[in-house]
Amino acid sequence: MSDTAKHPSNGIKKDEQKQVFHSSSSEDTFNLASRIGKQLRGGEVILLIGELGSGKTLFAKGLARGLGVEDSQEVTSPSFTLVHQHLGRFKFYHVDLFRISSLDEIYQLGLEEIMIAKNVVAIEWAEKLGPLTPKNAIKVLFRNLGEGKRSITLLRE
Ligand SMILES: Nc1ncnc2c1ncn2[C@@H]1O[C@H](COP(=O)(O)OP(=O)(O)O)[C@@H](O)[C@H]1O
Ligand SMILES: [Mg+2]
Repeated sequence: MSDTAKHPSNGIKKDEQKQVFHSSSSEDTFNLASRIGKQLRGGEVILLIGELGSGKTLFAKGLARGLGVEDSQEVTSPSFTLVHQHLGRFKFYHVDLFRISSLDEIYQLGLEEIMIAKNVVAIEWAEKLGPLTPKNAIKVLFRNLGEGKRSITLLRE
């Protein structure tokens, strides 16, 4: 079997690490992300994947807090500017691909130029990256379970 062979029962690649968290409130999600943000060493790309309202932006806000970004409450959905830069322990880039409809538009964002050195990059709607998905990124999958509950799954290679 090759390294990329999938485990027959769970669809997870052999070398992938999976952690599942249950969040019961916005605060839970923020605190989880903040804890993860504190552990980042710089250079991580974090792919945030899940439906509208599942908590991706809130999670990005928590990451910012954990990274020591002072204006972490200002981490909001980028609307016209699709890439926002904040400064904490590292440069933190928050990207939202919601309004993006083609790979060409993604190219134009110049993500390769920010996914360098110790920069931390969090990308909402990261499934739109398709073939541009960077290797070794941390995936965070959100599921809205209703009534303020979310499941948040971390996958890292
Ligand atoms: N457990 C939870 N985790 C995250 N968000 C929650 C939770 N419960 C309720 N919410 C609410 O859901 C919304 C999530 O919004 P947002 O983070 O902008 O989602 P997305 O960026 O995925 O569209 C917020 O209004 C938040 O208060
Ligand atoms: Mg969002």
